[in-house]
Amino acid sequence: MILDLFKNFFVSDPTIKRHLLKSVSWRILGSMDTLFLGWFVTGQLSVGAQIGALELVTKMVFYFIHERVWHRFSFGLPTRTSKANKVKQQNEGKLFAQQDLIDRKQRESLNGHKAYTIWLTGLSGSGKSTIAKALEAWFYEQRVRAFVLDGDNTRLGLNSDLSFSNEDRKENIRRVAQVSKLINDAGSIVIASFIAPFEEDRTGARAIVGNGNFLEVFVDASLATCKSRDTKGLYKLAEAGKIKDFTGVSSPYERPKSPDVHINTDSASVEDSLNAVIAFLQSTGLIAKVSSE
Ligand code: ADX
Repeated sequence: MILDLFKNFFVSDPTIKRHLLKSVSWRILGSMDTLFLGWFVTGQLSVGAQIGALELVTKMVFYFIHERVWHRFSFGLPTRTSKANKVKQQNEGKLFAQQDLIDRKQRESLNGHKAYTIWLTGLSGSGKSTIAKALEAWFYEQRVRAFVLDGDNTRLGLNSDLSFSNEDRKENIRRVAQVSKLINDAGSIVIASFIAPFEEDRTGARAIVGNGNFLEVFVDASLATCKSRDTKGLYKLAEAGKIKDFTGVSSPYERPKSPDVHINTDSASVEDSLNAVIAFLQSTGLIAKVSSE
């Protein structure tokens, strides 16, 4: 039992081991220095040895506490973005974009439809995934190639190393936008279902995918509605403080200012929502006028 607790303590945060080891190694070095200095100044080895021994224990404890306190602050540490920028700089001039033999236009013409990204943004529980699946099924019936990328799914695979900090959400959206662009280049429509709470990150996604190929659909629902649905039970946990940085509760959601389609799922049914997106696609000529029945 106590052994398990001890083991868990180290497994929960591997830096504890590092700080403990550093405390010991630095203290042995530091106290050897004190011993020799004490001996040198007083001419008595025993005095140097006593101070050195006392210091060995007390300063080891202080050093460890000091390291653990500093560990809580990220001040001065490289961020994900700064590390990524450094690598980008290092790679400059060493990577060369390869030209396609078959281009996107040819793939689109082979498929018989254009390829673009429909980005559904909104709070957790607003209905993004449901609408995304309905849209995918509708495209399938129309013999149109479309594929859903969903936040929960990509976070279980490609983005499993990302947390819900602002910086990691940015990276989440950047990676998904890059994947969306690749799928579009391969000739398929992407239906991306991600909270994407920050305007700047959504603008970034649009820039990656390409302005003309990116449709923003705001799946709007009041926080009260999302909380009452709480299909995954996450709002309850977030409100109890058991999940930190939860969008709408302890992390902000910046509402899109001018989305291409704005659906309010407080009142709109799945069918209404689907029809709103289809109507927009038809009005912009992105899909031939086909019946939604
Ligand atoms: S995003 O903010 O980075 O765009 P994303 O859409 O990938 O989020 O993932 C959201 C999903 O993760 C939600 O549907 C929810 O199930 C789950 N989730 C877990 N923790 C959080 C959190 N702290 N904030 C928001 N969603 C969370």
